[in-house]
Amino acid sequence: MSDSISGSLELTNEWDRYWKGSASANAYSAGGSKHPVLQQFWRELFMSSLSEYPHGRMIDLCGGAGAVLSAAEGLSVSEGTELISLDISVSALELVVENYPYVKTIAADAAHIPLKSETMDVVSSQFGIEYAGEQAMAEIARLPRKGGKLALVLHHSDGLIQQECAASADAIARLIDSDLIPMARDMFEKGYAMLRGGGSNDFHSAARAINPVYRSLEPIMDDHGVQVAGETISTLYNRIAEIQKNLPRYEETEVVDWLEAMASELPAYADRMVSMCQSAQSPEQFKSFCTHLSEMNYQIQQAHPQQVADTTLPLAWMLVAERS
Ligand SMILES: C[S@@+](CC[C@H](N)C(=O)[O-])C[C@H]1O[C@@H](n2cnc3c(N)ncnc32)[C@H](O)[C@@H]1O
Repeated sequence: MSDSISGSLELTNEWDRYWKGSASANAYSAGGSKHPVLQQFWRELFMSSLSEYPHGRMIDLCGGAGAVLSAAEGLSVSEGTELISLDISVSALELVVENYPYVKTIAADAAHIPLKSETMDVVSSQFGIEYAGEQAMAEIARLPRKGGKLALVLHHSDGLIQQECAASADAIARLIDSDLIPMARDMFEKGYAMLRGGGSNDFHSAARAINPVYRSLEPIMDDHGVQVAGETISTLYNRIAEIQKNLPRYEETEVVDWLEAMASELPAYADRMVSMCQSAQSPEQFKSFCTHLSEMNYQIQQAHPQQVADTTLPLAWMLVAERS
């Protein structure tokens, strides 16, 4: 299938960077896109859809590395069934091709899907379409043919994932504001200069200056837990202390490259966390989308927040609707 990119280059790059860096990693650590409840939801959807539409066309929008389509693995897919993954990130689609060679891919902005209306049997999206804005929410509703289905898992405002992303965004913003990373780099460079025979004063005064900044990570971990932001804060906290204590054991380039990579990746990571929070659907937005679908002759089969064990916070909005 031909690739066509019509999305904004900046957006493409941001997601592309994510997929290049994280390979097939989960989008979120707590209860993310591979949560067993969600896997079960998609498994059941594919089991029923593959028999209901034996030669069907199924498209997963904003599919990332294929978390949704992976639920179809091992199920008997009759010849003629088309599984398609659409995403704005070419790197994400490369992972899909690598892992699920039978899946076709389309690189496109979900707000401008290059497909004719009423040509799909199943249209799915998990934590994806809501990133592409209101236009994309309207765009997807035109794709299912009569008798076809729309199955969506959407971010829930005030939900588990939203809470995790808000905490991560706050933690990373505080880390960036603290200037710890450039200060650590400066201190270590002075330490290596000292090891090469230079004086020790510069290193010791840099170490004194960094101490309160280093300690400022402690309240971040107190507020959000050591797991926050994929353990970025706790890893920095532990590694900086370890390297400082045992400087000769580490190569200077290894230390500097690590800090440089952190410094360049953190702003994009924080932006992604913020964009997740912004894309999360409030009860009003979800209700109004359901009303929009009903007006387009969809029969709503499921529309509810998904609860999971050990928390009162919902994981996601679940929506299944059939076009009549
Ligand atoms: C949080 S990830 C979810 C990926 C996958 N659905 C999953 O459950 O793991 C969001 C996905 O939406 C894609 N995306 C963001 N904005 C998009 C847009 N405007 N058009 C198409 N894809 C987009 C990203 O590249 C990313 O793969």
